[in-house]
Amino acid sequence: MKELIEGLNEDLEFEYTAIIQYITYSATIKGISRIELKEFFLDEVNDELEHAKYLSHKISALGGTPSIKPRTFKITEDVKEMVEELLKAEEDTIERYKRHSELAEKLGYVDIKVQLENIILDEAKHRDELKKILEKIGG
Ligand SMILES: [Fe+2]
Ligand SMILES: [Fe+2]
Repeated sequence: MKELIEGLNEDLEFEYTAIIQYITYSATIKGISRIELKEFFLDEVNDELEHAKYLSHKISALGGTPSIKPRTFKITEDVKEMVEELLKAEEDTIERYKRHSELAEKLGYVDIKVQLENIILDEAKHRDELKKILEKIGG
């Protein structure tokens, strides 16, 4: 149980990080792809916010204390580097959710397992979009 709460708190910290990262990049992006990518980055924030809401409620329901600490991320003005950083973060996030959904299943929390899998669907969509953007801008 302690391991699961810690795992979900790790996920929560990375969701808060993603929210700050997408907002910051949308605000600081420059150049030709700015208008298109700004909208895309801000759209992603809504999904990450829903994930953070679910995780914080679930951690509390399990008797844990939801973390309020985001992680750090790379600040850059280079558009390609922004997209690469976000893609890497989404890929790492998918792997983290896979581990924690397996852990939830092992502990008998089928609802958490299913919800983390649903979140994986969102993150995989983000990953695929970022990959397409990277191809378009010459990754
Ligand atoms: Fe997310
Ligand atoms: Fe995401």
